[in-house]
Amino acid sequence: MIHPGTCERAFVTGGAGFIAATLVDALLAQGTCVTIFDDLSTASRDRVATLTGLAQGPDATAAKPTRSAAGQRLHLVRGDVRDLAALETAMAGHELVVHLAAHTDIARGRADPWRDFEVNVVGTWNVLEAMRRLGLSRLMFASSGTVYGYPASVPTGESYGPLLPESPYASAKLAGEALIAGSAALHGWRTFAFRFGNTVGEHSDHGVVHDIVVKLLRDPRCLELLGDGRQAKPYVAVEDVVAAMLLAEDVAPAAPLSVFNVGTAGTVSVARVAELIIDALDLDDASVERIYLGGARGGGGWPGDTPLVDLDTSALRALGWAPRYSAETAIQKAARGTRDRLLRSGAPLLTAAERRAVPS
Ligand SMILES: NC(=O)c1ccc[n+]([C@@H]2O[C@H](COP(=O)([O-])OP(=O)(O)OC[C@H]3O[C@@H](n4cnc5c(N)ncnc54)[C@H](O)[C@@H]3O)[C@@H](O)[C@H]2O)c1
Repeated sequence: MIHPGTCERAFVTGGAGFIAATLVDALLAQGTCVTIFDDLSTASRDRVATLTGLAQGPDATAAKPTRSAAGQRLHLVRGDVRDLAALETAMAGHELVVHLAAHTDIARGRADPWRDFEVNVVGTWNVLEAMRRLGLSRLMFASSGTVYGYPASVPTGESYGPLLPESPYASAKLAGEALIAGSAALHGWRTFAFRFGNTVGEHSDHGVVHDIVVKLLRDPRCLELLGDGRQAKPYVAVEDVVAAMLLAEDVAPAAPLSVFNVGTAGTVSVARVAELIIDALDLDDASVERIYLGGARGGGGWPGDTPLVDLDTSALRALGWAPRYSAETAIQKAARGTRDRLLRSGAPLLTAAERRAVPS
């Protein structure tokens, strides 16, 4: 017996990650039983500590009688999506699969593309194979707005093509969608691929908002920025991303694979993101020198960065979804929350790339 009671059971790969933190909380709040399947490779220490204290399961701390009702519906399994047997064992007994586990260090794909393939393509294939063996038929997949590459038309709708990704990460997300489409059509499943824009929130420990906050806390007078500052993306609050996923799963018409862009209207440039964060942290804009480290092709932050992502979200809006937060509000809210979290934790102030370079 995986979960007590008779709740709906959701299996969340990458469930200890940033977006998953909000999704898992939302699922628990609506009474769902949740199993997190995560190798904890990039999950933040704070989140892992919260989960191990809260959840049941072999990788949780010993069951406590004081465990909250939500904690009793949460099960934590440390496992790797590259391990099909482990996935199949842990997935048995669930109805809904949410596949968020991924290698998310896009820049690293240039030197180490194998990791994108192994975790993001083989891992997705394993999720589908475990579902097939177990007879499961409902899946939500975290794809990405990067699948559009450098599109000829913006804002870009879901039917745009050809899709020509510009990094191994983006290729792997597109491959994941293709693998899902084939299985879903063949087996009569109901699945979703969500092409997220840049998702922001206080618990993110990677991405431009996190890294700018870290740099400003270290030195409020000088800010190094990747690219030429003109890279423009659709920033979206993690709460709005999760609301979109849950709504679509609930109300979208039945289809083997439904694809939805998830983002806010328009884009925000990196230069503007810096300005917004300086303001949110109550710093004097004029006293912060910006140093742009130069652009990869088209002004991107690194080779493989897509300098312009602008998502047409009318399909999702037609279902009744609208973001609660504008892109600019979401960025400022995330920046303040990230600053407070970092200062509270007392952890070393490291950008995502610096943290990954430290042997654990
Ligand atoms: N954050 C964004 O802006 C954004 C944008 C587009 C798409 N996405 C996608 O959304 C999903 C979640 O993103 P996030 O920002 O929360 O990422 P994250 O890095 O915070 O979370 C990923 C989680 O997957 C786990 N994981 C990594 N490799 C694994 C493996 N081999 N087996 C099991 N677990 C593994 C990590 O430990 C981590 O907890 C990812 O698939 C990502 O590609 C995110």
